[in-house]
Amino acid sequence: MTPAEFQRRRRALLKSIGPAGLAILPAASEVIRNRDVHYPFRQSSDFTYLTGFPEPAAVAVFAPGRKEGEFILFCRPRDPEREQWDGRRAGVEGAVATYHAAQAYPLSDLDGLMPGLIDGRDRLLYPIGADPAFDARVLGWVNQVRANVRKGASPPETFVTIEAVLHEQRLRKSHSEIKRMRRAARISAEAHRQLMRRCRPGRVESELEVEFQHHCALQGARFQAYPTIVGGGVNGCILHYVENDARLADGDLVLVDAGCELGGYASDITRTFPVNGRFSPPQRELYELVLAAQRAAITQARPGNRWIDPHEAALKVLTDGLIRLGVLVGKPKQLIKDEAYKPYYMHRTGHWIGMDVHDVGHYKQNGAWRILEPGMVLTVEPGLYMPATDAVPAPYRSIGIRIEDDVLITEDGNEVLSAAAPKDPDAIEAVMAGGS
Ligand code: GLY
Ligand code: MN
Ligand code: MN
Repeated sequence: MTPAEFQRRRRALLKSIGPAGLAILPAASEVIRNRDVHYPFRQSSDFTYLTGFPEPAAVAVFAPGRKEGEFILFCRPRDPEREQWDGRRAGVEGAVATYHAAQAYPLSDLDGLMPGLIDGRDRLLYPIGADPAFDARVLGWVNQVRANVRKGASPPETFVTIEAVLHEQRLRKSHSEIKRMRRAARISAEAHRQLMRRCRPGRVESELEVEFQHHCALQGARFQAYPTIVGGGVNGCILHYVENDARLADGDLVLVDAGCELGGYASDITRTFPVNGRFSPPQRELYELVLAAQRAAITQARPGNRWIDPHEAALKVLTDGLIRLGVLVGKPKQLIKDEAYKPYYMHRTGHWIGMDVHDVGHYKQNGAWRILEPGMVLTVEPGLYMPATDAVPAPYRSIGIRIEDDVLITEDGNEVLSAAAPKDPDAIEAVMAGGS
């Protein structure tokens, strides 16, 4: 992202904050995995979105109209000894030179300077409730201002979650964000295609997992947007299966839900394909039903439609199909009203996607489903997870299928960012036979 883009984002935020407001945003913290070992650090998406600053132990302050500068960054100072052990730091100099803060201070100055920055501001925006320790710290600063009212101090009276304004901003993707998401989806789509070519009976699920990640990393996406799911056979029925330690059996399907993160932006793709390269007739029947539901849902993902329209389109196709297969009995309308599909399809048809795989943004506004607009990106991911119960005809039991794409709402419809991952069953069989 260019400095100009970060500046545009901060300008939009400053405008939403209003001249009487002040916003405070902490960076993510390092998280311990086990003794002396941390999880790989991932900056908070909100912090990255506004600052691009990649380090933990930092706090950004946005102060509209402040003449010494509207963007203040508190961060770790340079420290040659610590940097020798833990890696380079930008320091306060880098915060200004590289990240374009108007002013930067060492983090140790935060408690001393915040009351002064808060004094005189009417409205305080911060991530209320996200971290109880940070809540307490902010209220400590506010209370210091309150303690000085007789000396003329003016504490804020309105407290607003910064997410309320920031997440509306993040929901609508800019041209450069879309470019990055398109590339992330393309890398993941190509990795899915590679897995189809390399899948064989007898291979372990985790082998596909690491091959997926290997392909993405070689394309510049070192991290995944979420833990990779590779579920062979009945494991495909577990929505967030992560063990990935079973052997893939001849005659089973395998469900792969995997997507890389590229430059802070997620992709999220699911493909389900036959381990031996050929769908059996009942597998193909179920697969084509899920695919028809997914296509119907994608058609509904267009500007002016409601957020819920793709989901409702998928439910209609899936319910009709389950009646046809003899799994459900009754009238489609009533079955949908009764949620009779729930034992076989228990999740929603999608979610926003962006910097976070389950991205920010409200799904409802004033009690009504949100209207889709160009620049919003969502997943469309219907599935069927058939339990081994008497209600299910024997050939369909223990089959799990999900098909998931990342879909950008455009001016005149949508663009499927993950379209390069094969999903037509004939196309999948052709790829698996080494044909393309
Ligand atoms: N991979 C998580 C999801 O599909 O929502
Ligand atoms: Mn998803
Ligand atoms: Mn997924």
